[in-house]
Amino acid sequence: MSEGRSAHPHVWSVPEREVLASAVAAAPSVHNARPWTFVVREHVAELRPHPVDLLDEHDPLGRDRDLSLGAALTNLLLAVEHLGLVPRVDEVAEPGCERAITTVTATHRTEPSEAAERRFAALTHRRSHRGAFPGGRLTDAERASLRAAAGLAPGETRWITGASEALAVARSLSYAARVMHADAAYQRELAHWIVYEDAVGGPNPESGIPESALGWRGLPAVGLVTDRTKLPDEALLASRIEHDSVLVLCGEGDAAGDHVRIGRALQLVWLEATSRGMAASVMTQPLRLGEVRAAIAEELELPGKPHALMRFGHRS
Ligand SMILES: Cc1cc2nc3c(=O)[nH]c(=O)nc-3n(C[C@H](O)[C@H](O)[C@H](O)COP(=O)(O)O)c2cc1C
Repeated sequence: MSEGRSAHPHVWSVPEREVLASAVAAAPSVHNARPWTFVVREHVAELRPHPVDLLDEHDPLGRDRDLSLGAALTNLLLAVEHLGLVPRVDEVAEPGCERAITTVTATHRTEPSEAAERRFAALTHRRSHRGAFPGGRLTDAERASLRAAAGLAPGETRWITGASEALAVARSLSYAARVMHADAAYQRELAHWIVYEDAVGGPNPESGIPESALGWRGLPAVGLVTDRTKLPDEALLASRIEHDSVLVLCGEGDAAGDHVRIGRALQLVWLEATSRGMAASVMTQPLRLGEVRAAIAEELELPGKPHALMRFGHRS
């Protein structure tokens, strides 16, 4: 048995439970809905999918909820490593539950890696940045570090590159924005998730998106279209796509487990960016439309369907 390895699973102490819970609570999620319940019992930390009302219009298939679970799992695993333990992940079916529970246990000690500690330190200051990126574009080295952080197969991450790709994607996003803008049922649901400035809860509400955090211009405006969004024209969008660095996360599989896996990667990339001084925002709203997913997959010749778009840049 190697040093630090124990046959017995590690029992989480109270301070350790707090570290794990805070890490999970800091995870990004669709509409900040946190579609999970996090429970720690003795040696098992559990992430349980949790039903959320008022997401059926935005997330009819549950894809965004599974991506969100994946992001929360990344935070949990980084916290375990930060505590000097090697996590083990299992999917456990529970009688009567449609969805498996993700359990995390640890049996032996380790030294956290430099990258894991850097990403762990970024957990609490990672935010969605839906504003402009006035700083310079990402360097090739920065782009490479983000793709590497995802830990996915090479074809599963793809930068949108060049004017013709940018214009093709701009057309799809512009179409999605017009459809979403005109969809009264969708907008009624979304309105429940927008937290207005004078509402109780302050700038970091338990769930929902503060109005001040929405993007009103350029690419982020079509990343979450409300009925107040002024829709940008296609040429402007294409130039923003060329300026911002836009990463597509995609995969051949399109089942819940695939979405959790991509969600894990999404959060690793986001934390890597944060830890290296870059800002980011995520866009899945346009991909809610099957025809938009199919068009982007075809235009970019992706090996599978796109699951999320992420834009990156420098705030100054
Ligand atoms: C799976 C997933 C999908 C998301 N989709 C969108 C989106 O389509 N548009 C958008 O502006 N933000 C999107 N977000 C960002 C969330 O709204 C944001 O993470 C959440 O409100 C918490 O805010 P924070 O990221 O600033 O901590 C998404 C996040 C996740 C994890």
